[in-house]
Amino acid sequence: MSRLSRRALPAVALSGLALPALGQSRYPDRTITVIVPFAAGGPTDTVARLVAEAMGRDLGGTVVVENVGGAGGTLGAQRTAQARPDGYTILVHHIGMATIPTLYRRLAYDPVNGFEAVGLITEVPMTLVAKRGIEANNLQELIALVRRQRDRINLANAGVGAASHLCGLLFQSALQVPMTTVPYRGTAPAMNDLVGGTVDLMCDQTTNTTEQIRAGTIRAFATTTENRVGALPDVPTAREAGLPNFEVSVWHGLYAPRNTPREIVNRLSASLQTALRDPNLVRRFNDLGTEPVSQDKATPEAHRAFWQADIARWRPIIQAAGQYAD
Ligand code: MLT
Repeated sequence: MSRLSRRALPAVALSGLALPALGQSRYPDRTITVIVPFAAGGPTDTVARLVAEAMGRDLGGTVVVENVGGAGGTLGAQRTAQARPDGYTILVHHIGMATIPTLYRRLAYDPVNGFEAVGLITEVPMTLVAKRGIEANNLQELIALVRRQRDRINLANAGVGAASHLCGLLFQSALQVPMTTVPYRGTAPAMNDLVGGTVDLMCDQTTNTTEQIRAGTIRAFATTTENRVGALPDVPTAREAGLPNFEVSVWHGLYAPRNTPREIVNRLSASLQTALRDPNLVRRFNDLGTEPVSQDKATPEAHRAFWQADIARWRPIIQAAGQYAD
């Protein structure tokens, strides 16, 4: 029996029974708030709400989501870093936690040591999408259009440090064409304008684009993955469509404020692992083009190691681009 299942067994066997290990109080004994650093209805919100629902079932308590959008996801992170480290305020954030430490040089919180890593959640593919009326039938025509009309075609994103911003940077550097960007508090409001035709392009996660693509309310030109996304079989990869080196996916993780007691971090991690096995969550993730990480990645140790490595990966790229948020 592997170490994971041995660790999982006590948690599963005891799930729903609060652990009386924390001084007098049982955990949780009141509502847990999950901070989402982007607008409601967007990709990070979608992931967080599915996880919150499943963890609530496992913990036998109420887990609610609060959206604290703005400043590329740093406002929600700051709110969590400055919250009481008692397990009642936690954060779902993404690859931004790896870029923000370099992109932002003047933050009111410590973007690395201000948090406990609880566990990884999922890694979401991205899609390059456009408003329905765009005058291009495939990626090569879209690239030619952007080159021809670089001052007129704009690119929506969720602020400096957001996944949509990063992907947009990669697209612009792949084309060597600087574009006009339009920032939002999240890609949910950006999607409204893309569907409405008031912005032209966006690079966004399948958890936010899949249903719009299927409904035909937006156009999809490529995914940023090595292989096609199962939920979007007709959308070619960027490499297939003739744009190599445009591959990025958006990992998500669960965090608690620094100095949250280890027992609580471990209880949250065990509950996250249970949530990632939840059939409803798995089905919904698959519907939206992603899947939960494997159980061994939904641990504090694996998450912290992955996060540190990704900070180190993005630092030289951002420094070379010299694109700082402040
Ligand atoms: C969102 O939830 O709005 C996105 O994750 C924002 C982004 O990072 O592009």
